[in-house]
Amino acid sequence: MNFNIKIILSDFIKKFLSGALFSLFIRCFCNKIHKTRFVQVAHFSSENFYICASCTNFFKFTVFREKRLYKTGFRLYNSVKFSKPVVFMKKETVKKKFKKIPIIETERLRLRRMRVEDCADMFEYSKRQDVTEFLLWSPHPNKTHTKKYLEYIKTRYDDGEFYDWAIELKSESKMIGTCGFTTFDFNNNSAEVGYVINPAYRGKGYAPEALLEVMMFGFLELNLHRIEARYMDGNDASRKVMDKLGMKYEGCARSSLFVKGQYRSVNTCAILSDEFIKRYLKVE
Ligand SMILES: CC(C)(COP(=O)(O)OP(=O)(O)OC[C@H]1O[C@@H](n2cnc3c(N)ncnc32)[C@H](O)[C@@H]1OP(=O)(O)O)[C@@H](O)C(=O)NCCC(=O)NCCS
Repeated sequence: MNFNIKIILSDFIKKFLSGALFSLFIRCFCNKIHKTRFVQVAHFSSENFYICASCTNFFKFTVFREKRLYKTGFRLYNSVKFSKPVVFMKKETVKKKFKKIPIIETERLRLRRMRVEDCADMFEYSKRQDVTEFLLWSPHPNKTHTKKYLEYIKTRYDDGEFYDWAIELKSESKMIGTCGFTTFDFNNNSAEVGYVINPAYRGKGYAPEALLEVMMFGFLELNLHRIEARYMDGNDASRKVMDKLGMKYEGCARSSLFVKGQYRSVNTCAILSDEFIKRYLKVE
């Protein structure tokens, strides 16, 4: 049922709908076609979220956002309060989703699968010392290295074990970085995120714009309970990104990482699903 709805919505929106008309359509859709009880129209940033409760199971909810449909495990106890996710994600489910890593669009960006054709764009930044200064990997020595890396990534996607998106700048059709999940902790329903932006495109809010969508995917689609991000001492730009998305600073593991010949202190920031929902799903 949900799958069918997704198809109908995507085609319909592409051809006929936008803005207020879309809102009206969703209301009618929830009430008449889907035979559900429409609950709320909520706002996420400047864009709309639409939530409807399934008539068959009051505690099951579907969240529509633009062209995407999220199946959620969130319960709506009343019109404004969400409980914790009821469904723990399973490794197999996550693998399945990332085998066909979805394309996610933001206002300026397209998050999509990394491709071997991204080689030149990726090498442009991956060769730079200043990009990898606070990362675990070293600068790529040449384009062949980047190409081999992207070929390897293809096999990881195929196995459903790579959780990073390429960030494409829509206006230039150029890959300007990456963003996604670095690890999943399946036992505790949490994940860690990471991101890199080509220095030529920094300071324009691209990393937070991409990360917000990744977190949205994590909380709404994967039912994560917690998302964390870590940064090495001195990486102030990365910390700013975490602050912008409402991640809370949790502390520093002093000299806990030996990387590139030296001990580095690693800081952690995190956000919980409840906090994320409260921050971004402001119900009217
Ligand atoms: C961290 C990073 C992804 C931020 O990306 P971004 O798209 O520039 O993010 P923002 O535009 O929100 O800028 C974040 C902060 O970077 C700093 N910044 C701004 N312009 C910058 C520039 N031209 N060069 C370097 N840093 C800049 C600012 O402090 C900014 O915060 P502000 O907007 O409050 O002033 C990017 O700096 C990067 O790729 N760094 C190297 C890889 C890395 O460290 N990744 C994180 C691992 S934990």
